[in-house]
Amino acid sequence: MRIDLPLEDFLALPDTEKVAYIGDRGILYAQQFRRADLDRYNEVADAARKLARRPQGSAFMSGLLKHRMALNFFVQPSSRTFMSFNAAEALLGLNRMSVRDPAISSMSKGETLVDSVRTFISYVDLIVMRHADDDAAATAFWTASRAHRRITLPGGEKVPVPIVSGGSGTTQHPTQALLDVYTLERSLRPVGGIDGKTLLLVGDLARGRTTRSLAFLMPEYRDVKLVFAAPEKFRMGQDVRDFLDARGVPWSEVESLDAGIERADAIYMTRIQDEHDAGKQKGVHEKAEDRFRFTLDHLDAMKPHAALLHPLPKRDEIDPAVDDVEDRRVAYWRQERNGMWMRVAILAHLFRVDGLLLDAASAPVGG
Ligand code: NCD
Repeated sequence: MRIDLPLEDFLALPDTEKVAYIGDRGILYAQQFRRADLDRYNEVADAARKLARRPQGSAFMSGLLKHRMALNFFVQPSSRTFMSFNAAEALLGLNRMSVRDPAISSMSKGETLVDSVRTFISYVDLIVMRHADDDAAATAFWTASRAHRRITLPGGEKVPVPIVSGGSGTTQHPTQALLDVYTLERSLRPVGGIDGKTLLLVGDLARGRTTRSLAFLMPEYRDVKLVFAAPEKFRMGQDVRDFLDARGVPWSEVESLDAGIERADAIYMTRIQDEHDAGKQKGVHEKAEDRFRFTLDHLDAMKPHAALLHPLPKRDEIDPAVDDVEDRRVAYWRQERNGMWMRVAILAHLFRVDGLLLDAASAPVGG
């Protein structure tokens, strides 16, 4: 439970080894999840969605974590992740606080992240965090493991205050990957779900943490193929390509959306993550190249059952005309709301009340 390594040594471990320390006491890396976990999260998200439809179900759900306090510690820009975690916490009855601006917290007085997290743990039972530093969530997890404070789960197990990453630097966004597979499984349900499908990932794959985390989940599905469409400078990272090779997930690269669209069962668009550019001017954004822009012609070329996803926010990489088309294949707005249900499932599992949600949703009065 307590990580006995010095922080530097813990951070130096490969993520696949850090995962062994995390178990299911936090969410930091997409590599943490096995297929059975993913299926279970999807089931719990569906149960939450169903319960929330009726006053009785919603009242049951909002009684589950009334005694818990969450901190949403988001010191990098966020709309969806911040709001959907807040909404999910409210649905489960969690009390909540937020820290969003480091300039008005003690971090501006030079407090270390370790000391800040140690302080937060004195007041809250959960930290959801987004941070520009790739190692921030791992640092928080290490700190929580060594703090005295423990929370007692139903059944009596005592665990450190759980840490959930809502986006770490340019490397991982594990809860986004969970909501993305939930959206893919729902959208592709008529054709057997994600198994056996081809996913086309488009845009800034080098710095896009969402596509990286999603790729890390793909070995859990049978016979999935990945196709990457990115400008040379934004190629999918070598670490992800090596991981897929080692796990036997076939991947290829194409020069344009056109070159991959007809074979794709899902298209996952991303924006250029230009906030990471040195000397970037405020309000000025790099434009997507035409060959990586999704237009109405691409919608025409998509398979009839295919799904179009985007983690959002988007800029010019999707023609705004696509927003207004009445077409089930355009999934990105549904994807946002799916994120809220998935985050209910994530929090319910961390506090071990997910079984209660499933039972209530399947009870005759539940739904
Ligand atoms: C993503 C992120 O923050 O990485 N947004 C999100 O959480 N939905 C994608 C992005 O910012 O491009």
